[in-house]
Amino acid sequence: MAFRFIPLALSLMLALGGGVAMAQEAAPAEPTPEQILAGKRIWTDAACFNCHGTNGQGGSSKDFPHGPSLRQSALDRATIYEVTACGLPGTLMPAWAKGAYTERGCFGDEPGEVPEGTRVIGAYDEAQMQSLMDYIYATFRKGKD
Ligand code: HEC
Repeated sequence: MAFRFIPLALSLMLALGGGVAMAQEAAPAEPTPEQILAGKRIWTDAACFNCHGTNGQGGSSKDFPHGPSLRQSALDRATIYEVTACGLPGTLMPAWAKGAYTERGCFGDEPGEVPEGTRVIGAYDEAQMQSLMDYIYATFRKGKD
């Protein structure tokens, strides 16, 4: 009679094993140290620190516009991404994503014209933008959404 239980035990093991594998797939991918380092290079290359402070604490230089603290920003990651990609029209916060507004729609809009008063630098592709967010979230926004 015992053999009858073997298929049950096997399928139970498979089901449990499958469950574990699915849970791993569903978990958000942790950025690798390489991705964070790539993001740090972009932070440095773009000189975000000139306006937002070396540690994202907010700018205070007499030579640069004073950007707000990225540590204390109430924006969530998706919005911080979008603001970094597309800038803030009418302010000194530039758009950093390649093709911002023209090829890549901004703030939920279809691609089109660059709004007046927007500085487009357009230096980084979406993977680089993600690395930049990985750096920001691994350092001065650690533990935030
Ligand atoms: C030339 C100065 C300057 C540079 C360089 C700059 N920013 Fe900004 N940034 C600003 C200013 C000024 C604002 C605030 C605009 C406003 O709301 O009036 C701002 C706003 C932001 C905000 C919105 C924060 C909030 O809580 O409202 C984010 C996010 C941001 N910047 C990220 C970045 C990142 C990341 C970089 C580098 C890729 C960067 N900025 C480079 C000037 C700059």
